[in-house]
Amino acid sequence: MRILAIETSCDETASAIVEMSHYAKATRDERIQILSNIVASSQEIHQKYGGIIPEVAAREQVKSMMPVIEESLQQAKLESGDLDAIAVTQGPGLIGSLLIGVETAKSLAYVWKKPLIPINHLVGHIYANWLDESVPQLPAVVLIVSGGHTELVLMKSHGKFEWIGGTRDDAAGECFDKAARLLELGYPGGPAIAAAAAQFKIPNFKFEIKLPRPMLEEKNFDFSFSGLKTAVLREVNQLKNNQQFSALAIQQLAFETQEAATDVLVAKTLGAAKRYQIKSVLLSGGVAANQRLREKMGLAVQQFSSSAVQLSVPEPKFCTDNAAMIGAAACFNYSPVPWQKIEALPGLDLTGAV
Ligand code: KG4
Ligand code: ZN
Repeated sequence: MRILAIETSCDETASAIVEMSHYAKATRDERIQILSNIVASSQEIHQKYGGIIPEVAAREQVKSMMPVIEESLQQAKLESGDLDAIAVTQGPGLIGSLLIGVETAKSLAYVWKKPLIPINHLVGHIYANWLDESVPQLPAVVLIVSGGHTELVLMKSHGKFEWIGGTRDDAAGECFDKAARLLELGYPGGPAIAAAAAQFKIPNFKFEIKLPRPMLEEKNFDFSFSGLKTAVLREVNQLKNNQQFSALAIQQLAFETQEAATDVLVAKTLGAAKRYQIKSVLLSGGVAANQRLREKMGLAVQQFSSSAVQLSVPEPKFCTDNAAMIGAAACFNYSPVPWQKIEALPGLDLTGAV
């Protein structure tokens, strides 16, 4: 089973070819093989503006869509005739961006006479955990943390998801992006915050800046990150008024922002891991590329279960948007839909996923 997968939900234009043998009788813990995985990003253009301009992203995607697909075929040394199906991200995401991937996939499915599988972007993020050497055991609690989403999901089996909590306002990645902008660290904010935080290494330094850990003590699986962003704004204003907005102060604030956000993400995920009978905790989404989150979650899961529950975290390149994860989701949830019935759904959520 060989699938060409297309992903264009945000500013990336991505195409991948993945393979899974005996998909119909999949031994369910089978790993996906990646034959090619191409990601073109318009990030450099967005850096100039400090964030994504949807029209600019879509214009770039129109230009790069077909070259990226061609490159994925070339790299895999395949032609269209070698493909069994096409998968495409249907939503959620930016409408202009989604349309480019969806309409391209529909045209190719029609011309090449291939089955077409629409995939929920969030489900794709979850399936990034099936792209690594070790395959997670189910059931699992999944934390999806990206630029647009912070969700906790119970994954009972392949394609069976129960949403158990999520952010009431900003997503964690959005909080990193906004905090980075306030700290004048550039875009995308997550990696910029992580890099500045890593610079902050004063032995035995006593923090003067303490940011809130929103909803940490509440016994539910919900998050809120807008208060954290506002707290960063308050600190920045105060530092600027006192002429103390130095490189060190920025690093310290970046460090504390990362600590505050990751403390909440770890505590809530662990709370869910304790509540449900699970075999694994899965991390996914762009923020899962964060080294500090990976370390803290690893320690927390280890302390809680001493190896009865395994933590699975995709390689950083599979945490951020890519098409291989969409291909993996399609392999495990092979449900083609006639191309005429498929449309981009920018507001798609996890109910009725895949
Ligand atoms: O999953 P993704 O690539 O796109 C969405 O579906 O949103 O996630 C992008 C988000 C951005 O907010 C970015 O700042 C964040 O992931 N991110 C990180 C890191 N790398 C990307 N956040 C923290 N640390 C990182 N290393
Ligand atoms: Zn994403």
